[in-house]
Amino acid sequence: MAETILVDKYPSLFNKAETGLSLEEQYKNLIPQLKSLLSPSDELVSNLANCAAALKQTFEKISWVGFYLYNGKELYLGPFQGKIACTTIKIGKGVCGTAAEKRKTLIVPDVSKFPEHIYCDPDSKSEIVVPLVKRNGNLFGVLDLDSTELNSFNETDKKYLEEICNFLISVIIN
Ligand code: SME
Repeated sequence: MAETILVDKYPSLFNKAETGLSLEEQYKNLIPQLKSLLSPSDELVSNLANCAAALKQTFEKISWVGFYLYNGKELYLGPFQGKIACTTIKIGKGVCGTAAEKRKTLIVPDVSKFPEHIYCDPDSKSEIVVPLVKRNGNLFGVLDLDSTELNSFNETDKKYLEEICNFLISVIIN
């Protein structure tokens, strides 16, 4: 049988966001689709690329979304959607390196007020970074989302992005 065309299987990822949905409802629509789209039988880079694309397709407020992965020394650019970006970030530097070092989600409402924020895109104004830590305690990387508006990310984003990262860690990343 022919492969199911993705647009039939994941209609809301391909259509303009339904108007009037709350942020929570948008995540509640997205997460089951992500759990069906991403599969441990696919290559890791393919899963991370589709995860970044699904987030970018869902939320208009996102200007850049992607993964920085840890190679044991520093973070390096992984699958992403958006403008070209810095290829490496040292642990403890920038929002990504700080979230990785503290192993804690960081919401930055105004990046100009974050000491040592790394400007890959000069138009970026707010950011959220969620660390991905394996069950054995080893750092895998971070999920980074940027917006060209101030105050774009809140506790609802944190809650559901952490749920997505937990799914990645427990099902997709070995
Ligand atoms: N702003 C990030 C760098 C990565 S880009 O936003 C894609 C930081 O401060 O870590």
